[in-house]
Amino acid sequence: MLDANFFTDADFENYRSLLYKESGINFTATNKPILVQRLRVRLQECNVPTAKAYFETISTNKEELKLFLDAITTNLTWFFRNQPHFDALEKFVLPELIKEKKLKGDFTVRIWSAGCSSGEEPYTIAMLLAEKLSLPWQFEIVASDLSLKCLMSAKEGFYEKPRISGVPDGYLKKYFDEVAGGYKIKEFLKSRIKFDYHNLKNASPWQNFDIIFCRNVLIYFDEAAQLEVVNHFWNSMHPKAFLYIGHSESLFGMKTQFEFVKTEWTTLYKKWK
Ligand SMILES: C[S@@+](CC[C@H](N)C(=O)[O-])C[C@H]1O[C@@H](n2cnc3c(N)ncnc32)[C@H](O)[C@@H]1O
Repeated sequence: MLDANFFTDADFENYRSLLYKESGINFTATNKPILVQRLRVRLQECNVPTAKAYFETISTNKEELKLFLDAITTNLTWFFRNQPHFDALEKFVLPELIKEKKLKGDFTVRIWSAGCSSGEEPYTIAMLLAEKLSLPWQFEIVASDLSLKCLMSAKEGFYEKPRISGVPDGYLKKYFDEVAGGYKIKEFLKSRIKFDYHNLKNASPWQNFDIIFCRNVLIYFDEAAQLEVVNHFWNSMHPKAFLYIGHSESLFGMKTQFEFVKTEWTTLYKKWK
């Protein structure tokens, strides 16, 4: 049972700064109700009566801190989210990369879906690349998130029927098995994706990506944290590579080395050294 005054203004300041330091996620007065609601659920699950007591726990217990970060993230996603991004991938980004990589005899396209949530984004990319690339071309996808719950569900690759509504019929037949209550991603596609835990506050453990998708993640960060994340991306990309961010996100006004690219379908960024 929670205390009536389980969350005070002082608690808000403590949580705000801890969350920012640990994840880059920036809670303001406007989105405070979301934090309070998600914290309330976690306190009830853990049977802790006040935010203050729970704060002491997460300040010293790294495992519980991870679970808390998981509990406060927004994980909304869907297959083929923002189709123009995938049109640009097929008609602009892949042809550009193929031209460049062929010159170097490198036939593997490496992609990172950063903030992959429950997997719809990396599976969408995998289906598209499986359709568009043929031998000697290959692809590898790394998909990461800080939500352990999301990563588990992404790795399982099971989606209830309403969640596959954006998947074209042909893709559904080719890349999913119909199972009780929904659809499951076929193993051959799943095996192309490596799912892993990664907090975007930290430098990337991976290198040499040709494309990074980090869509609808930066929106939760303030500008300083966004810049830090984007610099980590720069360092983990191949000298010729592309960066996708969400359609309502922008690097405008930020001191980054990325170049803005406007295509017929969408806008994106590139590193072109
Ligand atoms: C709204 S979802 C976006 C999913 C997908 N990229 C899309 O556009 O549909 C945002 C995801 O970013 C993840 N996220 C938020 N902060 C993060 C951080 N610091 N490190 C890694 N992932 C983070 C959340 O756990 C969540 O799954």
